[in-house]
Amino acid sequence: MQVVSDIASLKSIIEEKKQKGLSIGFVPTMGFLHEGHLFLMRMAKAENDFMVISIFVNPLQFGAGEDYEEYPRDLERDTKMAGSAGCDLIFSPTVKEMYPPGYATFVQVEKLTEGLCGASRPGHFLGVTTVVAKLFNLVRPDRAYFGQKDAQQAFVLKKMVEDLNMNLKVIVLPTVREPDGLAMSSRNKYLTPEQRKEAVVIYRSLREAEEQIRKGEREAGIIKENISKLILQAKHARVDYVEIVDSKELHPVSIIKDRCLIAVAAKFGKTRLIDNVLVEV
Ligand code: PAF
Repeated sequence: MQVVSDIASLKSIIEEKKQKGLSIGFVPTMGFLHEGHLFLMRMAKAENDFMVISIFVNPLQFGAGEDYEEYPRDLERDTKMAGSAGCDLIFSPTVKEMYPPGYATFVQVEKLTEGLCGASRPGHFLGVTTVVAKLFNLVRPDRAYFGQKDAQQAFVLKKMVEDLNMNLKVIVLPTVREPDGLAMSSRNKYLTPEQRKEAVVIYRSLREAEEQIRKGEREAGIIKENISKLILQAKHARVDYVEIVDSKELHPVSIIKDRCLIAVAAKFGKTRLIDNVLVEV
């Protein structure tokens, strides 16, 4: 496995693989890898000839006062883990390499980015789409892999690929969870032991919402209220949003008639966690 941090080396390795006609699977990450990333990587390895990951904590997708500085970084640990999942190449650039002085180009997906995390983290998705567009141009993958935990991100990136006629397939794989149900996230590391125990309430509340719908409840307001109530029983929890949206445009629904996404963002202390479930009716 190779680790490169400069664009010129990355481009020349990718060109060589393309010349040989190899397919490329790509997993963009911000590092501090966990089992969720490894799941994406194993799939990328299984479905492609050459598997690339990027490790880049992208400053552009963090707002003022967010955790850009504290975001966990450990390239040595990540390299070992990526190697164990069959990674062939890690691209781990510096901020200057990605955004040199004078950098002035941004990619913006409209509408889908307005609600949910887009509303609570203004500018976040502009940062995500800009960096992912750059990474797609550099890595030239046939397939790129993302987790369902970041459901809105996956929707937005699919839309970007479609609208900009990018020549790759975006593949979204199920959320990988801890044994107690908490969605895996690099940010779980910030939780104190008490907050960690409490955080499981997010998934529990989503499961309960699924159960309510299964039993026939269709009023989104009632389901959302129940989720919030459950989460707020945890001492350190604050709800950022609880939303039920349709699974095409991500518009809030008041009566559940069709497949929908129930999405939650909640803070435990300073740590903001997100999770969601897709519900068929
Ligand atoms: O999901 C993430 O880790 C990031 O948003 C991504 C896609 C790597 C872009 O920085």
